[in-house]
Amino acid sequence: MRVVLIAENDDPAAWRRALAGRVEGLELLAWEDCDEPQTVDAALVWQPPPGALARLPALKLIQNLGMGVDALFAPGVLPDFEVPLARLVDRDLIGQMSEYVCWAVLHYHRRIEPYRQQQRRRVWRQLPATDAGACPVAVLGLGEIGADCAAKLAALGFPVRGWSRSPRRIGGVRCYHAEQGLRDCVAGSRVLVCLLPLTAATAGLIDAELLAALAPGGCVVNVARGAHVVDRDLLAALDDGRLERAVLDVFDDEPLPPDSRYWTHPKVLVTPHIAGLTRPETAAAQVAENLCRVASGQAARHLIDLQRGY
Ligand code: OXD
Repeated sequence: MRVVLIAENDDPAAWRRALAGRVEGLELLAWEDCDEPQTVDAALVWQPPPGALARLPALKLIQNLGMGVDALFAPGVLPDFEVPLARLVDRDLIGQMSEYVCWAVLHYHRRIEPYRQQQRRRVWRQLPATDAGACPVAVLGLGEIGADCAAKLAALGFPVRGWSRSPRRIGGVRCYHAEQGLRDCVAGSRVLVCLLPLTAATAGLIDAELLAALAPGGCVVNVARGAHVVDRDLLAALDDGRLERAVLDVFDDEPLPPDSRYWTHPKVLVTPHIAGLTRPETAAAQVAENLCRVASGQAARHLIDLQRGY
């Protein structure tokens, strides 16, 4: 089976090592070394450039190497012939994302930033104790990652509300759904965590109106996609004191341009899209399973619904 890796930051040697012995007759090529594209059976991709997949006419599977597939729907990225498209649903990646979200919520809730400022001035002053039970957290998006985060935040004692397009039930989490449920979910929450898939329906969802529904002095944590947030509305809410903090791992334009106000904003914590990083050693089992399934004529797992976009 000939498989090509089209993922700028991924090391083909690491994927070869991780997949070794799992797929019979596997030949894994780096995109730059792929001299006979017409013979390639499957592509492992992360943000492939427009036009690349169209050069692989024998493709039987496009396996995305992350959980979000929005980059594949950019103009010219998917070929105009039909190919099943699968995403990764990796417990390791889910665990990393939940760790990041729990850290971001605790960082805000336990006032770590004000204490860091005190430290810079050598000030020893105890601020009043915080109560997780009085800090409602709204998790937008209750897919695999959102559900895991919501359950872990609830276990830490936060009252957790969750919102998704269709109804969901998660123990210990008050679930809301559909358009009318969104505002109810966010209203009065102290933290808004965005874990939504990026689609036409969710782009720009976190705007001035939704931010105004948060409790005063609230916090936004975005680990989904930058385009979920209307940047000027978030910056305005931080500037005028309605929001106390934003923890942002994702941006509309990545890498974050040097002149972005987010870099230097005193209320913003920036990380370079690292909340969840795919590790070949943990993701290989699922990738291998999909390659084997496709090689034996079975449908791959975790296929994307092309109409829904996730
Ligand atoms: C993903 C990501 O979608 O890392 O997996 O952003």
